[in-house]
Amino acid sequence: MLDQITIDRIIDAANIVDVVSEYVTLRRAGANYKGLCPFHDDKTPSFHVSPAKGICKCFACGEGGNAVHFIMKMEQLTYVEALKFLGKKYGIEIEEKEITPEQRQQLNEREAMFNINEWASQYYHKLLKENPDGIAIGMAYFRSRGFRDDIIEKFRLGFSLDSFDALSKAAAQAGYNTDYLLKTGLCYQKDNGQITDRYRNRVMFPWFNVSGKVVAFGGRVLDSRTKGVSQKYINSPETDIYSKGRELYGIYQAKKQIAKDDRVYMVEGYTDVISMHQCGIENVVANSGTALTEPQIRLLHRYTNNITLLYDGDEAGIHAALRGTDMLLAEGMNVKILLLPDGDDPDSFARKHNATEFREYVEQHQTDFIIFKTNLLLKDAGRDPLKRAQLTQSIVYSISVIPDEILRSAYVHECAELLHQDEALLLREITKNKQAALEQLHKQQTIEQERQQRLAQNAEKAEENTEVKDTSESPITPISPSDPEVTQQGSIPPISPVVTQQSPPSPTASRYHGLERMIMTLVVRYGEQPINAEDADGNTISIPLIRYVYDDLTADGISLQTPLYRQMLSDSVAHIDDAQFTASRYFMNNADIAVSQEAVNLMTERYQLSKNQKMASEQELMPEYIAHLLLDYKFLVIDEELKACQAQMNDPLLCTDAMKQYIELSQIQRELAKRLGDRILIK
Ligand code: CTP
Ligand code: MN
Repeated sequence: MLDQITIDRIIDAANIVDVVSEYVTLRRAGANYKGLCPFHDDKTPSFHVSPAKGICKCFACGEGGNAVHFIMKMEQLTYVEALKFLGKKYGIEIEEKEITPEQRQQLNEREAMFNINEWASQYYHKLLKENPDGIAIGMAYFRSRGFRDDIIEKFRLGFSLDSFDALSKAAAQAGYNTDYLLKTGLCYQKDNGQITDRYRNRVMFPWFNVSGKVVAFGGRVLDSRTKGVSQKYINSPETDIYSKGRELYGIYQAKKQIAKDDRVYMVEGYTDVISMHQCGIENVVANSGTALTEPQIRLLHRYTNNITLLYDGDEAGIHAALRGTDMLLAEGMNVKILLLPDGDDPDSFARKHNATEFREYVEQHQTDFIIFKTNLLLKDAGRDPLKRAQLTQSIVYSISVIPDEILRSAYVHECAELLHQDEALLLREITKNKQAALEQLHKQQTIEQERQQRLAQNAEKAEENTEVKDTSESPITPISPSDPEVTQQGSIPPISPVVTQQSPPSPTASRYHGLERMIMTLVVRYGEQPINAEDADGNTISIPLIRYVYDDLTADGISLQTPLYRQMLSDSVAHIDDAQFTASRYFMNNADIAVSQEAVNLMTERYQLSKNQKMASEQELMPEYIAHLLLDYKFLVIDEELKACQAQMNDPLLCTDAMKQYIELSQIQRELAKRLGDRILIK
């Protein structure tokens, strides 16, 4: 983790115009700059850069943020990576937050493993280019497959010598610790204790993780030896820095293009990825011929919603296409599938065609996965009623995992037609499926809840044994979302479970959010500015806006409903007295990316709080607006409470109390209405 001081220093040093200029040609426009937006296909300059505010924003597609957000998007980096990227550019030393000695040890271990892998990849690469055997055997092999120099460089392809200890010796000579040769799997230990190179006489494919670190290797045997004893590929074992199920071959080289094209091509092998790059298609990754895992799908989901699976048109390819695809659907991906002409894999196809032809072929032949599956199974089932029933079940299942309701119903409609089935029947089946999944989830939740309860009770008992305890209720730990998916690349936001029902926000919820957003807009823009308030004795005092809002709400026992806003407000109150505190800077530079991103949104929001700018600026009107907004907000809160009361009044047991409360609340509401009415707003 980076500390706030370092983050501040980086953002302060990073000149937004300077940062953006490296990617976009900017022209001056008054105090600001304008250029073509790099994030969408922009025809007129919609991308605005404000050096004064340190932010950029596209007024066509909405992308933008401060320098860090811009680099995140542009270079496809995580928040911390982007900060480091800028730190490096501006020569700012990065101070990492204090960590425990064990954490330090672990970090050092991982760092050492990355280091030795990096070294080894360079070592193999150099052998390929300079060693006589490397050139005669390895390079000759790649040439025979038609790989160009630039592609060999891009993927840092290499060659391992036909020796049991060439690598381990070279590593020792270069000063590397043998432990890490074993930990990374570059070498293994024989029964007699001898350290032995894992890869011998193979062409080498290093795996880069998403941030460009070498995490593993695949070594391919040379063609002449494919038949017979040897295994075609030897891959790194699972290690502390490599888990096969989390990585995707080619992601580092592909990520920018995936985001740009908003689509990823999924292929099976190393050579497919490489040949496609060579032919000019760069948004491609491979999963080594196994089914995709959830972490892999989430990794892709950071860059796009759209995936096209490319398979050979043979029997095996077709069946591979059906395997594991439901998981992609469940994660909310739009899945298309493309079968290449029989006999071709992406590698051979890419070698026969240029990028335009390849893309054209894909455009014309890729099919939506559900439709593909339906047609395929229909053909398989023929007229066999049992098979057809199974087929319906299978399709229904695939559709039922799709989180988007509208998409789901579109599929139901289409598939009903293809299957010559009643749409209502399919819908019923899907509802059944979803209900089953929901029940399953509830069951799991109950089990988890009971487990937590037991844990709490046990803890309580243990405490009772040691000390006298008060009799208050045992705290039940709330269920935390399982596995927050923290990878070495940074955290990936958890994706909602498959069965969550996505109901649109209620009108009240969106009214709350609307008001909160307006309040927070003022807080972010003018949070440090003084505003007049009354203290307990009725004296007029001047306090910063943030404190005013916070105190005003807290005094009435109200807290904002949007968790992010609640957090922003309460965290900022704690900093309001810091020397030179500026709200916009505090929020936009925040260590929490969610906060900084939202702050930029609120800063750049185009709506004007005042429609009548000629009479007074937003800033001048701010005290009036904030008072009005807070009253409005409280009015809404009371309204909600009144509704709850009304509901309770129907219950004979609660009726009397509810009635009393109702009368009180109504009185407060009338009061508020009056005060609201007293405040005349310039509209
Ligand atoms: N694979 C593997 N181990 C094997 C065979 C395959 O790890 N013994 C993985 C590799 O990642 C490989 C992918 O599965 O890239 C696809 O297999 P295949 O098509 O056989 O390999 P290609 O890389 O396409 O090799 P080639 O085109 O040279 O046959
Ligand atoms: Mn292949």
